[in-house]
Amino acid sequence: MRFENQVAFVTGAANGIGAATARRLHQEGATVVIADREEDAGRAVAAALGDRAMYVRCDVRDRASVDAAVAATRDAYGRLDQLIAVAGGSAVMPPLEELPDQLWDDLVDLNLTGVMRCVRAALPLLVDSDRAAVVMVSSVNGLAAFGEEPYAAAKAGLPNLAMNLAVRYGPQRIRFNVVAPGTVRTRVWEPQERNLEGMAQLYPLGRVGEPEDIAAAIAFLASDDAGWITGITLPVDGGVMAGPLHRMLGR
Ligand SMILES: NC(=O)c1ccc[n+]([C@@H]2O[C@H](COP(=O)([O-])OP(=O)(O)OC[C@H]3O[C@@H](n4cnc5c(N)ncnc54)[C@H](O)[C@@H]3O)[C@@H](O)[C@H]2O)c1
Repeated sequence: MRFENQVAFVTGAANGIGAATARRLHQEGATVVIADREEDAGRAVAAALGDRAMYVRCDVRDRASVDAAVAATRDAYGRLDQLIAVAGGSAVMPPLEELPDQLWDDLVDLNLTGVMRCVRAALPLLVDSDRAAVVMVSSVNGLAAFGEEPYAAAKAGLPNLAMNLAVRYGPQRIRFNVVAPGTVRTRVWEPQERNLEGMAQLYPLGRVGEPEDIAAAIAFLASDDAGWITGITLPVDGGVMAGPLHRMLGR
């Protein structure tokens, strides 16, 4: 029960990694705010959790929406201890020569600026917590060259943002960390189920990730077990960053 009497705000919690994280934190005692732009799915996750959970509509691309969602959390529970910034995503990408500025801007807005908006809104509540932690969800795409440049560049901004904020807000006892998942079996891979099976071969641990694998790492970084860890990026990736070519090399 690492999160008893704590309030966690989880963006992107209506599906996939965010939903698994909300369930994990709730299971460990947290009161959980499901902050997502998908209302039906978000309400369903909150309803399945039962007490100590509520859905708030939140579009991380819109400052007013984020501010209102955090204000609703304050009004409902009077505190905020963990901010888990999961909302994000990619898009079908043309080659860079044909990339419209708008698509670049949209992906940076969603994946990088959106996280900043959540942190900015949450800070006044987090400073009042004695156990405040922020966990941002990046990707291995932000750590190495796996393609999808606009998405990758946006995700690569998060480790630096976390480092700077860790230093700036360390004296106020707010920790900032990042998880960088490898391939995780969520709905985003549904159109490419076959690729997903092939991709498992690239992973030294022989499988792609499940949302619960990422949720466990997020819960660790958000908990007091990580009380002296701040400013880091933790790949949660079945070993792919350690040995992306291990199959090709016959090892
Ligand atoms: N699935 C993977 O292989 C993988 C790998 C690395 C990183 N990630 C990252 O993990 C995070 C979650 O991905 P997932 O696979 O669980 O995806 P998902 O589509 O299952 O869930 C994403 C959630 O974010 C919400 N969301 C999207 N845009 C939003 C916005 N503007 N405002 C509020 N909510 C919004 C969606 O409604 C959805 O509920 C993303 O940031 C993604 O980039 C995923």
